[in-house]
Amino acid sequence: MRNLKATTAHMAKTARNVFFLVGMAAAAALLQAVPAQASEECQELVRNKCGSCHFVTYICPRIAKGKGAMSWSGVVKDMVKEGMAATEQEQEKIVRCLAEPDAKVKALCPVK
Ligand code: HEC
Repeated sequence: MRNLKATTAHMAKTARNVFFLVGMAAAAALLQAVPAQASEECQELVRNKCGSCHFVTYICPRIAKGKGAMSWSGVVKDMVKEGMAATEQEQEKIVRCLAEPDAKVKALCPVK
């Protein structure tokens, strides 16, 4: 009986440690994901995701208006409803890419 108790306690501790490790791994992945907003990625992502149903230039007037994350997140959600395939992570990233478009994202749009 004592042994069983000890084993159970050990297992609980192991489980906690595993959760801790998984948590740490997730946190590390998150930390890595944030600065990994390479401009190439934004351009590719926006071109691939937002240019598959309509021309990507369809979104240019909105980019030119400098819409913020709130507005873009609404648009992205609407596009998911239209059938856009994108993970939660991709959606969040697209919103960031569009709310703060860098030179490469802007380069998707014709120069006026
Ligand atoms: C699955 C197809 C599909 C994909 C992928 C898609 N769209 Fe759309 N989009 C549509 C359709 C259909 C409409 C027209 C429907 C409407 O106007 O309500 C539209 C309209 C729009 C409009 C104009 C409507 C408005 O409310 O101003 C914007 C802006 C837009 N899309 C942005 C985007 C962006 C940004 C992406 C990439 C994140 C994207 N779309 C990806 C299908 C798609």
